[in-house]
Amino acid sequence: MNDPKDIKILAIETSCDETAAAVVVNGRDVRSNIISSQIALHTLYGGVVPEIASRKHIEKIDQVITEALKQAEMTLDDIDVIGVTYGPGLVGALLVGVAEAKAISYAKHIPLIGVHHIEGHISANYIENKELEPPFLCLIVSGGHTHLVKVNGYGRYEILGRTVDDAAGEAFDKVARAIGLGYPGGPKIEQVSKEGNPAAIHFPRAHVTGESYNFSFSGMKSAVLNYLNSCQMKGVEIIQADVAASFQQAVIDVLTGNVRRALQETGIKKFAIAGGVASNGTLRKAVEEVCDSYGAEFYRPSPVFCTDNAAMIGAAAYYDYLAGARSGLDLNAVPNLKLGER
Ligand code: KG4
Ligand code: ZN
Repeated sequence: MNDPKDIKILAIETSCDETAAAVVVNGRDVRSNIISSQIALHTLYGGVVPEIASRKHIEKIDQVITEALKQAEMTLDDIDVIGVTYGPGLVGALLVGVAEAKAISYAKHIPLIGVHHIEGHISANYIENKELEPPFLCLIVSGGHTHLVKVNGYGRYEILGRTVDDAAGEAFDKVARAIGLGYPGGPKIEQVSKEGNPAAIHFPRAHVTGESYNFSFSGMKSAVLNYLNSCQMKGVEIIQADVAASFQQAVIDVLTGNVRRALQETGIKKFAIAGGVASNGTLRKAVEEVCDSYGAEFYRPSPVFCTDNAAMIGAAAYYDYLAGARSGLDLNAVPNLKLGER
């Protein structure tokens, strides 16, 4: 049943290669979560082709919104707020969602809220953990971002560390391509790793110097490429599963190293993960073990809320809405939007 006091948000996400729409009530109650994935299309090219992504979003956006409303048993007349990702992401892809959201906001006279994509990933944790409230720590690991953040309040973020080069997901995708697994690399590396030995090859774990909680993955990726080259030159057999498992373990060791330090140094007892790479089962288990050793509660969204989706954008939009944030019809896509900026 819909209570008239409930805030019913239609959320839209088109920042990369998923066209997604969701209906979320009061930030945590997901009534529908529709995702049209373009992965099969981009697989042909070994990665996301921005121009193709934008065209496909245009083709799919209306269908996805219609389906989200239908599954939620609502029409646009029931919707109170429109939330949309306006950055960071591919500019042409973002623009499709932003234009659609502005048109609905204008036609239906309802508030428009531009949402930061990473804020969406963090907020995915609110959906299945109804009791979770800031402050907490969050590790966001996706194809474009690797951030360790202190969530001080709804919409209030303090970045403790970030990658200084490749994002974790980007490293997964590049290594997967190098060992012949194709795109998208993360899920394929996870699958193949199950048959491999994580201690077979030692890839370097880069520790960024200084006080920060920064990460670096490009050296590790280069080490994998060098290993593959040297095997080829020496005529040594490359065991794909061992390379995948050893690389995955190296990434996890770097990530959990900073998780451990952050729990120890901040004393915060709530830790969440988010983003596409957070759907990796071995990473989830490793972070859970670290949290257990510090007596911290561990929060992780179901995999469908880790990879790009619109329900997470609806969750973030709700708290932005409560905080009084409103976007105008001049809202534009901001491909390099920084977390915490509006
Ligand atoms: O959050 P997301 O869907 O999109 C971005 O905002 O970037 O993350 C996509 C990234 C890709 O790099 C993909 O390879 C990685 O997440 N990924 C994974 C897994 N599933 C997706 N990485 C490791 N293990 C997985 N199971
Ligand atoms: Zn994402």
